[in-house]
Amino acid sequence: MRDEDRAFELERQLAARDKTIAVLTERLEDQPWRGSPSLPVLEQNLALERVVVEKTEVIEAQRAKLAAALADLQRTQAQLLHTQKLEAIGQLASGIAHEINTPVQYVTDNTVFLGKAMARLQEALAAYRSVFEAAQTGALAPELLREADAALKRSQLGYLLEQVPRAIAQSLEGLERVTHIVRAMKEFSHPSAGKKELVDLHEAIATTSTIARNEWKYVADLETDFAPDMPLVPCLRDQLNQVFLNLIVNAAHAIAEAIEQGKPAKGVITVRTRHIGDRAEISVSDTGTGIPEQVKDRIFEPFFTTKPVGRGTGQGLTIAYSVVVEKHSGTIDFESEVGQGTTFRIVLPLHPEDAEGRPG
Ligand SMILES: Nc1ncnc2c1ncn2[C@@H]1O[C@H](COP(=O)(O)OP(=O)(O)OP(=O)(O)O)[C@@H](O)[C@H]1O
Ligand SMILES: [Mg+2]
Repeated sequence: MRDEDRAFELERQLAARDKTIAVLTERLEDQPWRGSPSLPVLEQNLALERVVVEKTEVIEAQRAKLAAALADLQRTQAQLLHTQKLEAIGQLASGIAHEINTPVQYVTDNTVFLGKAMARLQEALAAYRSVFEAAQTGALAPELLREADAALKRSQLGYLLEQVPRAIAQSLEGLERVTHIVRAMKEFSHPSAGKKELVDLHEAIATTSTIARNEWKYVADLETDFAPDMPLVPCLRDQLNQVFLNLIVNAAHAIAEAIEQGKPAKGVITVRTRHIGDRAEISVSDTGTGIPEQVKDRIFEPFFTTKPVGRGTGQGLTIAYSVVVEKHSGTIDFESEVGQGTTFRIVLPLHPEDAEGRPG
């Protein structure tokens, strides 16, 4: 039996017990001896107490079972989260490899070019040196000058002086890009040991969109609109990164599908943040297909997916819900219009201790 089913079953049994107790109590109250002068009031009370004690023990045992089942369920959920994270990294791996490969490719090309340029510069330098040395000894023959001039022309000095700094700048930029991606990967996969820490949401979103870049860049531009007054937010960094990733990948998929269905041009994914009172709001909007009315109620269900095998397993939003609502006392909802697009909105409390204590 699955953990959820077991938990439901235990809850059902518990409810049945409650019902039994209610019926028994009612019956006891209806007993003919109740209030009869032949049985002293004390004995009636004792009989009632015994029933209550027995039933309390049963309830306590059931409660312990339920608690164990819940702990089990939580462990399974944690496992699921971890598995999905590994899956996500696995799925992104080829995209990330591609992202890294492009700059590495042109850094390689540029380095080959710089090697050749260096050889030509050496030639030019040798020509200058021979002229210089001849001039020093006062033996600067016109023949030597002609040869040096020809060597300088061959080395295309003007071209080299223009292209070499350009190749160096471009290579540094490429290396910077690789460093950026590698840093993002490290940050994304760094576990936060299950502890909440104060996180710069904007940095977390930037990290996530970097590692998911290959998923969206062919179908959409990613725009950000960040609240300048956003404070650090207490959260489980790696889990929240996972939520952002799930939403961004979903947005990219919805746009890709809209394009497949004939929508012209690239779409837009907009990640927006707002600081409202004691809450941080993050929304991810897309110009994709939208969510049809008949599936709106189901998208947070475990394993609900409308995607073909290999593209989706229906876990992304289940995990997003669990992380936002259960782990951060936040909320997640969405607005969607078919043919227009979808906006998912997450609200996180900035002081979760207060939020947890609050009713509702
Ligand atoms: N931005 C969106 N636009 C349109 N439909 C969406 C969007 N986000 C989610 N959905 C719908 O909700 C379903 C469930 O999403 P969810 O992220 O849970 O699973 P998935 O994307 O199908 O698979 P997984 O995330 O596990 O790879 C999707 O299959 C899709 O039908
Ligand atoms: Mg998904």
